[in-house]
Amino acid sequence: MNGSYALCFSLAMLPFLGGCAGDEPGDSGYCADVPTVTYETFGDGFLTQNCRTCHSSGQTVRQGAPEDVNFDDAASVWASKDLVLALAAVDTPTMPPLGGTTVDDRYLLRVWLECAAEGE
Ligand code: HEC
Repeated sequence: MNGSYALCFSLAMLPFLGGCAGDEPGDSGYCADVPTVTYETFGDGFLTQNCRTCHSSGQTVRQGAPEDVNFDDAASVWASKDLVLALAAVDTPTMPPLGGTTVDDRYLLRVWLECAAEGE
């Protein structure tokens, strides 16, 4: 899978995640060894808690969030998957601007967008 080695290195820096022992050439890769995470089981709640206070089309007090960056549903997140991963699922996230997500949140965000079926 594209990018799985870079991902493995960044996750390996989080000791309690156990590194990437299952992510060697020839085995089935990162997503073989992770929990099942979807919009329903994680994404919806995560977005409500961490993103939609600013990024929701019903929101009038957007605190500077661009008018066209909204995470109202699963499709809107999947459409910006790479950007969301880069801003919010890294060790030092820039979204939300004031922080607040946990290491677990960021791990699950990455598992969701890297491993769930697109759109789920
Ligand atoms: C407190 C308000 C606030 C929250 C909460 C927030 N953002 Fe933002 N977001 C902003 C602002 C302001 C900008 C525009 C400035 C910038 O890009 O840094 C922005 C921009 C963005 C962009 C567009 C960046 C680009 O380069 O086009 C994305 C994608 C984004 N946020 C994702 C998220 C995600 C995902 C979350 C939740 C994990 C989140 N944001 C939480 C305020 C917020």
